[in-house]
Amino acid sequence: AANPLWGGRFAAGHAAVMERINASIGFDRRLYAQDIAGSKAHARMLGKAGIVSAEDVERIVAGLDTILAEIEAGKFEFKIALEDIHMNVESRLTELIGPAAGRLHTARSRNDQIALDFKLWVRDAVDGLDEQMKDLQAALLDLAERHAGTVMPGYTHLQAAQPVTFGHHLMAYVEMLGRDRGRMADARRRMNESPLGAAALAGTSFPIDRHMTAAALGFDRPMANSLDAVSDRDYALEFLSAAAIASIHLSRFAEEIVLWCADGFKFIRLTDAYTTGSSIMPQKRNPDAAELVRAKAGRVIGALNSLLIVLKGLPLTYGKDMQDDKEPTFEAADTLSLALAAMAGMVRDMTADPERMRAATDKGFITATDLADWLVRTLGIPFREAHHVTGRCVRKAEDRGCALAELSLAELQAEHPGITDAIYDVLTVDRSVASRTSFGGTAPDGVRARIADAREKYLA
Ligand code: ARG
Repeated sequence: AANPLWGGRFAAGHAAVMERINASIGFDRRLYAQDIAGSKAHARMLGKAGIVSAEDVERIVAGLDTILAEIEAGKFEFKIALEDIHMNVESRLTELIGPAAGRLHTARSRNDQIALDFKLWVRDAVDGLDEQMKDLQAALLDLAERHAGTVMPGYTHLQAAQPVTFGHHLMAYVEMLGRDRGRMADARRRMNESPLGAAALAGTSFPIDRHMTAAALGFDRPMANSLDAVSDRDYALEFLSAAAIASIHLSRFAEEIVLWCADGFKFIRLTDAYTTGSSIMPQKRNPDAAELVRAKAGRVIGALNSLLIVLKGLPLTYGKDMQDDKEPTFEAADTLSLALAAMAGMVRDMTADPERMRAATDKGFITATDLADWLVRTLGIPFREAHHVTGRCVRKAEDRGCALAELSLAELQAEHPGITDAIYDVLTVDRSVASRTSFGGTAPDGVRARIADAREKYLA
């Protein structure tokens, strides 16, 4: 059958495969609330501008409200023959209110309509994800507070490097999430201009008020160029970029959770709520949720790549290619949302094992830097030389199979005669950690101060 929207020009219907490749209703039905909100704003503006009568506007708005209620109640029948969300809604509006429905699309095209719907959806996604990132920060801050003084090894190259506190380590992720939220907020600010009223591509001859619809839909202003308004999806790219970076952060944290649960570490424990057993090995408690968060970053990165590739080389203005912007964006938003929820759940679920963490600091001569710093501070020798002296002490301890602090004073003095037994004070991990008082360092008091700052900055 001919299409109800452009049937004037077309006599016959679509091939079945054409319908399948062309239709977007399978996924763009998720835009129903945005589509209806945009249509209501557009209808009211048409009324105010005297383009559509007040009675018809009332009918249209009431009909749209009915449709919204039908969709939310699960009573709306989405039809693939009607291609997309716009035509499904308009067709139902026609059933409900008759010919007045046909006036809604005055001075509008599906090109500005979809640009609007999708942008509203991305904006909502940004807001929802911001809340979730904030919640993960809150969970991290609580755990960090409890462990501001819990000593653990800090690593470089996955080798014990210098002692830090668990709270300090967790706070690193609070900061990353703070920047992730900042990137989302930047994207939101830049995207917050309305494409509605660009019509197909050139604007319209009707006396519309784009400022009115922009304000009604919470935008700062209308977009300044109609061609740009219907062609660009950089707002989705910015969203996906921010989402990809955030998912990288989550994947690194997830990997650390996996490590911390692993044999040889056992720094933390997750309860049954966030682990799975093995079908054959009864002793197993696998951190599957963390592993999945680690994996799922790939989908978000993939989504960013997909959309970049869809848009690459696309001439202005609208091309149907752009319909392929939605699925990757939806998937990225869903995936990041799930990953954030799982991470917040795991952070609230985990218990740290301070004894195991401290025991791990015995390995790897973790206070070697403290020894070198002492030589610089106390004896005034250049750091480079102190590094060599310390290196020889480490080699000696390694040969003897003991800790640095277990070398005798005579053994240490053989490497530098100026060493006194005051050196033993700086070789303990607690002294090491407490001495890192530089701003942003791991000294427990500093960590507590940064936690207080972060609560103020991120949770207020
Ligand atoms: N379903 C389409 C999309 O998602 C809506 C816009 C259709 N516009 C057009 N000129 N065919 O992009």
